Amino acid sequence: MCGIVGVLGSHDVTPVILGALKRLEYRGYDSAGIATVHKGALDCRRAAGKLINLQEILVREPLRGFAGIGHTRWATHGAPSVENAHPHRSGPVAVVHNGIIENFQELRDELTAAGANFTSDTDTETIVHLARSHLAEGMTPLDATHATLRRLEGAFALAFLFEGEEDLLIAARRGSPLVIGHGSDEMYVGSDAIALAPLTDKLTYLEEGDWAAITRSSVQVFDTGGKEVDRPIVKIALESAAANKSGHRHFMAKEMAEQPSIIQKVLAAYINEGSGALTLPEGVQFNEIRRVVMVACGTAFYACQVAKYWFEQIARIPVEIDIASEFRYRDPVLQHDDLLIVVSQSGETADTLAALRHVAGQVRQTLAVVNVPTSSIAREADVLVPTLAGPEIGVASTKAFTAQLISLLLLAVKAGVEREKIDAEGLKTLMSEISTVPGLISQALDREQDYAQVAQKLAQSDDVLFLGRGVMFPMALEAALKLKEISYIHAEAYAAGELKHGPIALIDNTLPVVIFAPTGALFDKTVSNMQEVMARHGQVTLLTDAAGAKLACDVQNVIVMPTAPVVIAPLIYAIAAQMLAYNTAIARGTDVDQPRNLAKSVTVE
Ligand code: AGP
Repeated sequence: MCGIVGVLGSHDVTPVILGALKRLEYRGYDSAGIATVHKGALDCRRAAGKLINLQEILVREPLRGFAGIGHTRWATHGAPSVENAHPHRSGPVAVVHNGIIENFQELRDELTAAGANFTSDTDTETIVHLARSHLAEGMTPLDATHATLRRLEGAFALAFLFEGEEDLLIAARRGSPLVIGHGSDEMYVGSDAIALAPLTDKLTYLEEGDWAAITRSSVQVFDTGGKEVDRPIVKIALESAAANKSGHRHFMAKEMAEQPSIIQKVLAAYINEGSGALTLPEGVQFNEIRRVVMVACGTAFYACQVAKYWFEQIARIPVEIDIASEFRYRDPVLQHDDLLIVVSQSGETADTLAALRHVAGQVRQTLAVVNVPTSSIAREADVLVPTLAGPEIGVASTKAFTAQLISLLLLAVKAGVEREKIDAEGLKTLMSEISTVPGLISQALDREQDYAQVAQKLAQSDDVLFLGRGVMFPMALEAALKLKEISYIHAEAYAAGELKHGPIALIDNTLPVVIFAPTGALFDKTVSNMQEVMARHGQVTLLTDAAGAKLACDVQNVIVMPTAPVVIAPLIYAIAAQMLAYNTAIARGTDVDQPRNLAKSVTVE
């Protein structure tokens, strides 16, 4: 995780670096720092906590200089303190780092024995001491960097700045993304294209193992062996991350409210208005695929869990799903007629990216359902289905999740058509049901009062249990994740039928139990599970539609959700999962958009 930036500017760069760090804060906000070279001298400001703390320090102690590097941190090695904040500096060299240096202990012991004075607990500090020792041997900054990189094991994106060098930045990439931006008389380095979006649209993506010497008028890229290589400049039009909340109290509230229009946008992009035919990106022949393997993390994994039902039921194709951090370590059995689908908002999640790379050459094709179209995953997969949700700033994923769901549903329908598992009439019905999603999501959002009332009760509790069956089980999981993430309340989710195999022991008259149960084939069975909870005095809230509310009239609290066709119900109940968590977090007074310990993009294993 962590966001890094570097600028060779034509005026003082601190404000430019701060702007880029603001756009990178989604990668972590444990501490921030900037180093610049001014009149040959290297100087640095660092602060624990969010970027605002660094900004305050810079008001009191401004930092001048036309060349600089900056960092926003998600702590891996060492507490989120000033000492552990980047940039790290040793003598004439400063560095910012995203990733983990796995052999740092060995290097630290060696450097300490040679007289280096460590002032932090980070793995990163070994890099500056190593570079300094090579400079002291008389090497140039370029040679010292190359020698340093050769000693590092692990994953990293790095930007180096050197005393006395006002026209030199050195960048390196292994395992963590890094992009070079070309301006007019200015050059930039950033963790991603979004960081550089308002500065330039001309980008060079560094490839695995690349490192680059950058001046205002030149870029030299080298591979791991030190051989100069050619990397193209690509022009990328990017929406810069929306900087304001458009009148909403939080980015999360704004992003939840955007969902009807985003779903509409996805439908318009992937369904031909005239013929009604699906116009999803081509490249996968679903009739030649024997199995789909889906891999993702967190909320994106729950999107896969819902999609498993859709692909199996609509397209009759077997689906396996896996959490990305587990996938490659269990040495999965893959076949040449498998399709791997990875799902990711950021497109930079380290484990998901590693899963994509793991299957190379073992499966027929890879398809990425990704929100950030310039991301590593988007660029490396064989086929890309962009989810078109626009920049998501709130750490808790909301609009990106429902955009993933609708994209996956359309893919499942496409698979069903290509595999001839849906007849014309069935397809017509399905597409007409899908067209109702934006309107039904609007209606689900309108129940703010109901969610807020239930949230008041959840906010009083230390634990909450969510239950659901079928596609509502992943919704229960998503609701529990959202609640934990932004309200810090311990929450668990179970498939309702699994309750009696253990978790029912938790039920007493203090435990809130939230049950997702729209009417449909599984409604009666879920209601039976609910009765088991009520018989043990659990504090039940039922989320169901009008017909379900009528049938379950003895329940203490009911939120009546819009009546939705079964196939699209997950998209509608996802709103309830988000709104319950959001309103509970408000009631608890937590930091909704930047909850503690989290980062939006998880670029370390
Ligand atoms: C969701 O609210 C989370 N912040 C988190 O679980 C997220 O979905 C997960 O880290 C995966 O991220 P990605 O979609 O960017 O790959």
